[in-house]
Amino acid sequence: MDPVHLRAAGTSLLLTFPAGEAEITHFGADLGTDLPDPDLLTPPIPNSALDVPVVVGIIPQASSGWQGRPGLRGSFLAGGRPGRGFSPALRVESVDAAADAVVITAHDSDLGLTLSSHLRVHPGGLLEVAHTLTNTAADPYQLEELAVVIPLPRRAGEVLDLTGRWCRENHPQRARLRQGTWVRSGRHGRTGHDSSLLTAVGTPGFANRAGEVWASHFAWSGNHEQFVEQLPDGRRLLGASELLGSGEIVLESGQSYTTPAFFAAYSNRGLDGVSARFHEWFRAREHHVGTVAGRVRPVVLNTWEAVYFDHRIDELLDLAASGAELGAEQFVLDDGWFAGRRNDTAGLGDWVVDSQLWPEGLTPLIEGVNALGMEFGLWVEPEMVNLDSDVARDHPDWIVGPDPAAHTTGGRLPLEWRSQHILDLTNPGAWSHVFDQLDALLAENNIAYLKWDQNRDLSEHGSAGAPSVHEQTLAAYRLLDELRAAHPGVEIESCSSGGARVDLGILERTDRVWASDCNDALERQTIQRWTQAVLPPELVGSHVGPTRSHTTGRVHDISFRAITALFGHFGMEWDVRQASALERETLARAIALYKEHRALLHSGIRVNADLPDEALRLHGVVSRDGREALFAAVAVASSYAEMPGPVPLPGLDPDASYRVEVLLPSSADADHSHAFTQIRPPAWLRDGDAFTASGAWLEQVGLQLPVLNPEHALLLRAVAL
Ligand code: DGJ
Repeated sequence: MDPVHLRAAGTSLLLTFPAGEAEITHFGADLGTDLPDPDLLTPPIPNSALDVPVVVGIIPQASSGWQGRPGLRGSFLAGGRPGRGFSPALRVESVDAAADAVVITAHDSDLGLTLSSHLRVHPGGLLEVAHTLTNTAADPYQLEELAVVIPLPRRAGEVLDLTGRWCRENHPQRARLRQGTWVRSGRHGRTGHDSSLLTAVGTPGFANRAGEVWASHFAWSGNHEQFVEQLPDGRRLLGASELLGSGEIVLESGQSYTTPAFFAAYSNRGLDGVSARFHEWFRAREHHVGTVAGRVRPVVLNTWEAVYFDHRIDELLDLAASGAELGAEQFVLDDGWFAGRRNDTAGLGDWVVDSQLWPEGLTPLIEGVNALGMEFGLWVEPEMVNLDSDVARDHPDWIVGPDPAAHTTGGRLPLEWRSQHILDLTNPGAWSHVFDQLDALLAENNIAYLKWDQNRDLSEHGSAGAPSVHEQTLAAYRLLDELRAAHPGVEIESCSSGGARVDLGILERTDRVWASDCNDALERQTIQRWTQAVLPPELVGSHVGPTRSHTTGRVHDISFRAITALFGHFGMEWDVRQASALERETLARAIALYKEHRALLHSGIRVNADLPDEALRLHGVVSRDGREALFAAVAVASSYAEMPGPVPLPGLDPDASYRVEVLLPSSADADHSHAFTQIRPPAWLRDGDAFTASGAWLEQVGLQLPVLNPEHALLLRAVAL
């Protein structure tokens, strides 16, 4: 079979077909058109090894000599007993290639298995891979694992992945790649606060803007594993698979299983190059919020950290008016509005307006909010249930658990988490109950936005006594898909105790994520930097929280909080009526800046400088034509150095001249104008607050920054002259 070579935006994917297998011979830099004879690529055979060259197929198989983690694990149930067909020999039968995609079909005709592999290189160079396995035999096939893998070159010697917890999502960790398998397992039934949004393997020392990097993302909101494997023969792979429960997938004759999509990007200019490929892919989607004509990201005022469960219409309207005065465009009523919900122990599952709190329904609030010129948004948590709810009382059998019996008839429930359980959405009655109530809510009220929350792990998650995270995840996806189809104007946010469900699977049916419950600007600097390693800023909700952070107790100046929130989908989550005059004035200025620059922030190229000082960050967004940019210079800690020194502003056009000015804070309230911080700011800040230089100068030499106190930031704008 002839090799298949897909190329886009500086990336090549080369597939060859040795010994009847499909092998990714190269995924990386563009190879051009002059390729060697594939027969000459066969590797040597070392001593004390198999007598044939080992092929690393797109599904690595022991039948081709692979001794690492197998791509496919499973067996047929013959007379109810597993084992037969444990080692498949899938061999390619057909290759259907187009300019940007290929479908490869392989069979094991002795066993009765067919594998269909779909690989696509998107215009921005992002690779997408998924496999479908079909049982063509008579016996049922019990699937244990079907993985997607890509090979890595040997110079990819360092792994960076992300981890976290509630209020500290997406923090990076790095390690040298060694022999063995580095596995990140997610058994939360949801994506998980600790899930690695990005797994990057690169040349040693790869950085934001330097080094070669191969990076992947697994688009799935259920249990999963992501791994990097290095074998004794020196080969290495990057991969992922759905983590299936015992007996969770049994394919009857003719049935199929499809893996979630696996995305991979190559960059020869560090992590920013990887992010650019993901961002371009997001923005090319038809339903992407910045792509759909006329849809911009409104300034949000969310009620959670403002009033929590204390819902009183007069207070809420007063809060809305105060937000509108500052420039808010959307008012989101968070948890606490539905039947019986006075705290977090009751009400989940009954998606009807609480008639005691809201005797006339939500209409008076919605109309009041609309009259202030704002859209209305509402919080829901559709997959969950409190035992103290009508739905749990009426349908105890709709609650998931390890036992086939309902808890009211002797079955065991999983441990409670925030006093809540999970509705079995694989049960058609439960699914329709949720769909019908949400559908009615959206039909009867003028709701522009749903904050769709999900606040617990799916532990001991079973339906009819068998594990069901896979089906539950698909049922939740279907719920979102069908509600969106029925109410196409409604935008939906994926929230999961903050950022526990951030992945490209959920983002195919939602419009933004709540990256974290932590509104502390210092924590947010890291959370947002790494969430945006994959997601473009317009998909990452970012709110200015109270002066003293509710989740960390830290106190930050309003300028630091506002500058941090500007590099995302900007909002406020705070009783802004309590803000001081200076805070309100700065907030109003930040909101005006956000409105003025959101087109740039939500379409430009995200950049992160590489700085030697860990106490300092410099990040920004450069317009696609390179004519303007916004940067944030951020002191995240106290520095070892007396002065920041000149700091590069990356990503500008080297040949253009730029005027650089400070937008926030103004010199009147800037911390750096205090004599305690420094005697004198740099010359350009004294002489009219602007600096003029070429893009080459700004990237290579940099800009002299004022001394910044820890946990303070400067917002800079560069405009080509
Ligand atoms: C968890 C979310 O992440 C918060 O923002 C808030 O919506 C609460 N749930 C409400 O219960």
